[in-house]
Amino acid sequence: MSLLDNINEWIYSRFKIKDLLTSIVKHPAPDYAVTNPLYCLGGTAFLCFLILVGTGIFLAMYYKPTPLEAYKSVEHIMTVVPMGSLIRSIHHWAANMMIAAVMLHMMRIYFMGAYKKPRELNWVVGVTLLLITTTFGFSGYLLPWDQLAFWATKIGTGIAGSIPIMGQYISLLLVGGTDIGAETMTRFFAIHVMVLPLTTAILLVLHFAMVRIQGISGRL
Ligand code: HEM
Repeated sequence: MSLLDNINEWIYSRFKIKDLLTSIVKHPAPDYAVTNPLYCLGGTAFLCFLILVGTGIFLAMYYKPTPLEAYKSVEHIMTVVPMGSLIRSIHHWAANMMIAAVMLHMMRIYFMGAYKKPRELNWVVGVTLLLITTTFGFSGYLLPWDQLAFWATKIGTGIAGSIPIMGQYISLLLVGGTDIGAETMTRFFAIHVMVLPLTTAILLVLHFAMVRIQGISGRL
């Protein structure tokens, strides 16, 4: 028995992870879903999310969320950190692709009527995931702390502030005061790297569990 087999055996006899994984992964998908690329859009969005988490952890190791250091730390990532420019670009493009994939996935669900009974709740979870995906983009936009980031955040928080009744409270919560500054930056950073990834992960477990329990919807 090789060392790898021994490790495998040690883990298996204690956790039986292989049985659990086999039952989850070895579930046959219907033929019409396997051959139609439209059914891959949710998976594409998920792949983008995984890439974003991986590259995001790397970026968070070098990024400094303060108005004085943020721009410089991004410049440092781009020019000094080995492969920093490549990883930041992958993060950027995966973010754009995730938004496109989620939108197209939602259109596939809508036009194929896959949201109908018994999948209404999964549609609601999906809409929340769509909102979260766009909030990911919005909160990430501020982080480089350049002119584009500053003014986009000013406009975005201004729009949130114009919501009737709740607007001023939402704006205060996001901005952390009357002007965009250090408070806004730490809030956006916390939302971008903690609140949203954690909420997305929880909702995705729910989303996938419902797909498995309810099965993938049939052909039109
Ligand atoms: C982070 C975003 C999302 C990810 C990673 C994701 C992932 C997935 C995956 C992998 C599937 C199974 C395969 C497929 O049909 O593509 C699926 C199914 C489904 N998704 Fe999503 N999804 C996301 C967002 C959404 C959105 C925005 C909606 C709608 C508002 C939605 C509604 C549904 C529904 C109703 C199903 C069941 C489809 C069926 O049974 O045919 N999802 N999702």
